[in-house]
Amino acid sequence: MKVVDTIQSLREHLNDFKKSGKTVGFIPTMGFLHEGHQSLFKKARETADVVVASVFVNPTQFGPNEDFDSYPRDFEHDQKLAEKAGVDILFHPEVSEIYSDEDMIQLTVTDRTDVLCGKSRPGHFDGVVTILTKLFNIVGPNYVFFGKKDAQQVAVVNGLISTFHFPITLIPCETVREFDGLAKSSRNVKLSGDERQEAVHLSKALKIGQDLILSGERSSEKVKKAVTDYLSDHLKLGKVDYIEVMSYPQLKEEDHIEHTQIIALAVFYEKARLIDNVIVEIA
Ligand code: PAF
Repeated sequence: MKVVDTIQSLREHLNDFKKSGKTVGFIPTMGFLHEGHQSLFKKARETADVVVASVFVNPTQFGPNEDFDSYPRDFEHDQKLAEKAGVDILFHPEVSEIYSDEDMIQLTVTDRTDVLCGKSRPGHFDGVVTILTKLFNIVGPNYVFFGKKDAQQVAVVNGLISTFHFPITLIPCETVREFDGLAKSSRNVKLSGDERQEAVHLSKALKIGQDLILSGERSSEKVKKAVTDYLSDHLKLGKVDYIEVMSYPQLKEEDHIEHTQIIALAVFYEKARLIDNVIVEIA
């Protein structure tokens, strides 16, 4: 695996592959890699000839009171994990390599962001599309891989690719789960023993909503109520931030369900806020 920190050296390495007609799969990350990322690397390995990953904690997607400075970083660990997972080129630039004082254009996302997690993080997705536009231009991938756990991010990336006609195929990858269904997250370690046991009910609640839709229920209100009731019966420690049933990837509430839906939820525990979702295809 090659580790590069400049745009020029990344392009030099990639040009040789591209000239020989090889396809490029790209996984952008903010590092502190875990099994979720590993599964994206694996999918990329199966799909593309060359696998490129980036590790870059992107300042523009953090709000002024958010944790950019304390965001966990461990590049040595990231290198080992990426190499083991078959990444060919790991791009690890400094902030100054990506952002310059001469930058003069800002991207603003105008849809799909005033709901779910975007509602409480104004400007977050503007930063995400800005960095992704830069990285897509730098890497020039054929495929990009994103985890469905961040389903709103996948919906926004889908809009970014279609808005700017990037010749890129977006491959959303399944959420990796613990043995009992809890979605894997670096935040799970912040749960107390009791919170961890209780958190199993998040995916169970989603499954109840999913089964209702699959068995023909078309009232989004009823689906939302079933998920809400289940969680209020089973959560003693966690506090629900939101439970939403929406069209996907448009992220609009539909009274009568007609299109693919996302059931998404977020729950606060003492030291961690957990998110999870399920996407239900309507036949
Ligand atoms: O999901 C993330 O880790 C980040 O939002 C991304 C896509 C790497 C952009 O900085």
